[in-house]
Amino acid sequence: MTRKKPGKIKTRKPAGRIEVRKSGVHGRGVYATKPISKGARIIEYTGKRVLWEEVPNDLNDPHTFLFGLDNGKDVIDPTTGGNEARWINHSCDPNCEAIEENGRVFIYALRNLRPGEELFYDYALQVDEPITSEVAEESRCFCRTSRCRGTMLEAKS
Ligand SMILES: C[S@@+](CC[C@H](N)C(=O)[O-])C[C@H]1O[C@@H](n2cnc3c(N)ncnc32)[C@H](O)[C@@H]1O
Ligand SMILES: [Zn+2]
Repeated sequence: MTRKKPGKIKTRKPAGRIEVRKSGVHGRGVYATKPISKGARIIEYTGKRVLWEEVPNDLNDPHTFLFGLDNGKDVIDPTTGGNEARWINHSCDPNCEAIEENGRVFIYALRNLRPGEELFYDYALQVDEPITSEVAEESRCFCRTSRCRGTMLEAKS
């Protein structure tokens, strides 16, 4: 009888469906590298969970990687434990959506995605204070879709 030596058994990591690279919209973005079906859960928005009140004011600016949770108190900070999801840009006509499930956030495809397409979700940024011209300027959207509302701030209902 032969036995495999410990450490010789290898597991195969599935090839990723997304990659991070330079975006035409802003900085880096996330792109599909393989077809992704409508409704697929693509990736979790990971990071350290902190309280909004612990976030230094200089980090709480419109160029943000922070993802606020529905309870209004917690936020995911991907600078610790973050993954590719942190690079997904905003669009006013997105092909993905971010859904919170039991305090975790996942990115889902809103439609079938082709390899080479950039992934976007609607940030719908919320600002507690009155929207100053500075905040409005810093929140300008460059998604260039026909549905662009000109801002990454949440749509007025
Ligand atoms: C989580 S980062 C996304 C990655 C970003 N592209 C980068 O390279 O840092 C979020 C920031 O990207 C910028 N951004 C994302 N989508 C944008 C858009 N449609 N228009 C303008 N700026 C955008 C904003 O500054 C936003 O706060
Ligand atoms: Zn837009």
